[in-house]
Amino acid sequence: MKKRIVIGNWKMNLTVPESTILVEKLIKSLARVSNTEMVICPTFLDIYSASKELRGTNILLGAQNLFFVDEGAYTGEISPVQLANFVKYCIIGHSERRINFGENDKMVANKVASAVAHGITPIICIGDTLHEKRDGLSKVVVMSQLETALSYLTESEVSDIIIAYEPVWAISTSGGMVCEPVDAEKMAKDIRSLVSALYGKKAATDVRVLYGGSVKDSNAEGYAKIKNMDGALVGAASLDYNNFTKIVIAYDKLASSTRKESTK
Ligand code: PGA
Repeated sequence: MKKRIVIGNWKMNLTVPESTILVEKLIKSLARVSNTEMVICPTFLDIYSASKELRGTNILLGAQNLFFVDEGAYTGEISPVQLANFVKYCIIGHSERRINFGENDKMVANKVASAVAHGITPIICIGDTLHEKRDGLSKVVVMSQLETALSYLTESEVSDIIIAYEPVWAISTSGGMVCEPVDAEKMAKDIRSLVSALYGKKAATDVRVLYGGSVKDSNAEGYAKIKNMDGALVGAASLDYNNFTKIVIAYDKLASSTRKESTK
């Protein structure tokens, strides 16, 4: 069983000096964590300095996006080749990219394939909007996003990726409604069932499924107890080292209670 994982998505926050200070604090406050993988995803500008600071620590680095072409005339984009030396992970298809920058499922699939081809583990974000939830379409939408995102991957590649269920309506900047752990757990079960149907039972058991959406110190324990899930993708609360540390500790404490049931 892979370790559970807590990922901080810093979004478009922090200058380089601010990021350096936060990284320093996290290195100290998380030094004793050993059962949970920890990842921070700063802006592209902060990645180089963070990679130097994090060398030899237990905290890994991720990016928040990438483009699916290796190099060329793509002003403003960054390629997996450029990122591969610095990051182990990359968030792909975050709802803020889908909504604000027009990323569609096909682009997400291309980005996922390109990340995998360059040895970067994609953290694929899928999630329903409030509108879709009110129309009873949550499951249909999320499963369709997932199926397309995985289009170009093999069974063994799917085993190694990360899928983050992030209901858009529960993300702090979109109003931050509460997604109860029991509802996140149901979606995780559906996600594994789909992976099982498409890529087999092993992939469905091995793939790590996370919850994201307003996870913070005060509610982390509830999400950490979800048996079908392997961690959290944390936005706003990851900018506060104290809050992020408490979230990691909540997951780390329960690290030994392994996932009991993975697929139907
Ligand atoms: P949040 O963001 O924790 O601030 O809700 C999560 C995310 O968008 O990844």
